[in-house]
Amino acid sequence: MVNKITVVGAGNVGATTAQRLAEKELARQVVMVDVVEGVPQGKGLDQWESAPIEGFDSRVIGTNGYAETAGSDIVVITAGIARKPGMSRDDLLNTNAGIVKSVATEIKKTSPNAILIMVSNPLDVMAWVAMKVTGFPRERVLGMAGVLDTARYRSFLAEAMDVSVRDIQAMVLGGHGDTMVPLISYTTVSGIPVTQLLEKAKLDAIVDRTRNGGAEIVKFLKTGSAYYAPSAAAVQMCEAIVLDQKRVLPCAAWLQGEYGERDIFLGVPCKLGRKGLERIIEVQLTADEKTALAKSAEAVREPMRAVTL
Ligand SMILES: NC(=O)c1ccc[n+]([C@@H]2O[C@H](COP(=O)([O-])OP(=O)(O)OC[C@H]3O[C@@H](n4cnc5c(N)ncnc54)[C@H](O)[C@@H]3O)[C@@H](O)[C@H]2O)c1
Repeated sequence: MVNKITVVGAGNVGATTAQRLAEKELARQVVMVDVVEGVPQGKGLDQWESAPIEGFDSRVIGTNGYAETAGSDIVVITAGIARKPGMSRDDLLNTNAGIVKSVATEIKKTSPNAILIMVSNPLDVMAWVAMKVTGFPRERVLGMAGVLDTARYRSFLAEAMDVSVRDIQAMVLGGHGDTMVPLISYTTVSGIPVTQLLEKAKLDAIVDRTRNGGAEIVKFLKTGSAYYAPSAAAVQMCEAIVLDQKRVLPCAAWLQGEYGERDIFLGVPCKLGRKGLERIIEVQLTADEKTALAKSAEAVREPMRAVTL
């Protein structure tokens, strides 16, 4: 385990992330920060009181300040407002940019060596805001989206084929929005190309459902957005880093020429280890996938231009 992981934002995603981190004992201390007085303290205490039952020794605390977060190894940022029904991720843009800016300013001061995992939406743009404000190198600023989008895709595929989710390998690349790019050409069931097992119409419907996976949950919940799968995805990234697993996971990373893109956060296959982003893996794409990825990049660039920092 590492010494300290901070989760900023003790709302649905943040609190569930803190609990999963503690239950997996990925850090000696898990610190939750939120602006609402009492909420992070109450949730932190409640989670810590589950430790004797669940049998973990990670100490969970909550706070409204940053003193307790000092020297964090990893900081997961979930602060912001969540999407409401009918609201696009980009509607959240400038409100969340201001929030992420203030959080990143504090983290830069108190945890200058931390690895940042951005969760707040619009994801790719918020990761850029955090990198710009902290000045951290790209190895230490990552966005969580691809692991979640891929998990949704894998769960729908497993259901359609009635096979174990464990046997489905897949990657969803691109921005975290309706333009994301599920790679059918790299989707396999224990190595068997999915195109041999599912007819095209069914596969296309699953790709479409994946693209709208977040909105499907928002529509059900009405007053909030998804958090069980998003927190699991953020924690999988933390685990890969803490345990130096060298896992290859789709994450939003700052591209410097990879996939023909530069100066943009976009979901690509990343090797994660103790240093954070250890390598961006470039895979061959079909012409359609290349076009879709370029379109997705444009959908990220547009809101980047609209951010006023
Ligand atoms: N990347 C993804 O795949 C993904 C998935 C799900 C949710 N999200 C995003 O994650 C964010 C959090 O979602 P949620 O469901 O937990 O929302 P939530 O409303 O339950 O929690 C957000 C929390 O952030 C806190 N907050 C606001 N300003 C803050 C600040 N300056 N400092 C610290 N805390 C602050 C709020 O008080 C609230 O408790 C949203 O932006 C949402 O869109 C992203």
